[in-house]
Amino acid sequence: MSTESDVAGTPPPQEFESSLEPINKVGVIGGGTMGSGIAEVCARVGLDTLVVEVDDAAVDNARKGVEKSLDKAVSRDKLSTDTRDLALDCLSFSTDMGDLADRDLAVEAVIESLEEKLSVFRAMDKVMAPNAILATNTSSIPIITLGSITSRSDMVLGMHFFNPAPVQPLVELVRSLGTSSETMDRADRFAVQVLGKRVIRCRDRAGFVVNRLLVPYLLDAIRMFDEGKVSAADIDSGMMHGCGHPMGPLTLCDLIGLDTIEAVADVLYEEFKGSHNAPPPLLRRMVAAGHLGRKTGKGFYEYDS
Ligand SMILES: NC(=O)c1ccc[n+]([C@@H]2O[C@H](COP(=O)([O-])OP(=O)(O)OC[C@H]3O[C@@H](n4cnc5c(N)ncnc54)[C@H](O)[C@@H]3O)[C@@H](O)[C@H]2O)c1
Repeated sequence: MSTESDVAGTPPPQEFESSLEPINKVGVIGGGTMGSGIAEVCARVGLDTLVVEVDDAAVDNARKGVEKSLDKAVSRDKLSTDTRDLALDCLSFSTDMGDLADRDLAVEAVIESLEEKLSVFRAMDKVMAPNAILATNTSSIPIITLGSITSRSDMVLGMHFFNPAPVQPLVELVRSLGTSSETMDRADRFAVQVLGKRVIRCRDRAGFVVNRLLVPYLLDAIRMFDEGKVSAADIDSGMMHGCGHPMGPLTLCDLIGLDTIEAVADVLYEEFKGSHNAPPPLLRRMVAAGHLGRKTGKGFYEYDS
């Protein structure tokens, strides 16, 4: 029988071993849409946060992304100027993976490419202390694949934040067949007690919980739009005003990034098959055209730079 707290989705307070090692210094690899958001979440609570990017131009983009997001939160009265200034003080940037050496946790948030992530995980494993946790924000790549190429599969897990990370409360914690209970508990305590996030624990299966349910729905919206009988605005309006969603599926596709959706759909299809998981031709063409959504200024809608 379900209890009231099950029905409300409120998890019981989690007890953690007091001997769990704390996480004080954080690294984020990749400062794009997600990496800059994750770094902002950490810096807002006063954690020493280092972002590693590929080159100076990417560092500049990442820094500007965080500054813009913090200023937006201040202008909307969601954040005090003191907290914004604290966050900016706590952030540093680098193009050298070697600077991650003193981090207790690093969250990898580079593009959704297996090759790129494997190379980043090899580098993290090489430079980081043996008791440091290596996390990935991947939406679809098996955690065990990344853990297995390191010398510490027990300390590798998925920490899947949602977009925009400073706004969305959820973090999916993904345990692979190699991840230890202690690593799960350290990451759980950190996400809940330090970052103030809500956590669900998931198995290492494509899409985890949320994307496995969400992505087939987004793909269906793209197929419906491609049939040409309903406008993007009407599809979005239907789901907002008929189902109470805060935004429609095509607006959400643009926010997530169409390349990311294509990559997740490919992995869902590879793992589970089913035509509902297959990327529709229009999605493929839009990605090929560079119409990736908000980040390129054009997707199902157009955006000012
Ligand atoms: N976009 C979303 O809504 C969303 C949500 C949850 C999870 N994710 C996942 O988060 C990850 C990042 O996605 P994103 O949307 O932020 O991508 P993005 O394209 O916005 O950013 C990726 C960043 O990684 C950097 N990068 C690439 N290779 C690097 C390397 N070797 N070292 C350091 N930096 C490197 C790029 O310069 C870029 O700034 C992906 O795994 C994605 O699946 C995305």
